[in-house]
Amino acid sequence: MKKITFLLMMSAAHVAFASPALSAKEAAAAAELAKSSGCMSCHALDEKIVGPAYSKVAAKYSADADAAVSLAQSIRNGSAGKWGRIPMPAHGTMNQEDINLLARWVLTIKGN
Ligand code: HEC
Repeated sequence: MKKITFLLMMSAAHVAFASPALSAKEAAAAAELAKSSGCMSCHALDEKIVGPAYSKVAAKYSADADAAVSLAQSIRNGSAGKWGRIPMPAHGTMNQEDINLLARWVLTIKGN
């Protein structure tokens, strides 16, 4: 019985992390975090600055069930060659939960 409960909890946790859906509270926290973490000096929601528009990132990975995980890795370790010639620097000192939230948030951004 214990084992089954544990397995159910694990799969619920996995679904929660893989799903790009955010509560309104999480979305607001993520938007603040993106500003205070300097993301918005290189990114905008719906236009390219130094890095790609978040709406374009969300569109590119919309069919990718593992996108939240791979985007979190890109944010943490930096990213190069996926969008153009300018690389994104690593954000290795950021809290992993914050990075995960930002990755899930980016996937919810819709373009016009
Ligand atoms: C110095 C400018 C800069 C900053 C600061 C920056 N980015 Fe980026 N970001 C980029 C560039 C350039 C790319 C495209 C990299 C590539 O081509 O692989 C990118 C790519 C991305 C991607 C797509 C990665 C992929 O795997 O396709 C995401 C998501 C992202 N950034 C989120 C963030 C978040 C969240 C932050 C703040 C914690 C942030 N970025 C801060 C410049 C920046």
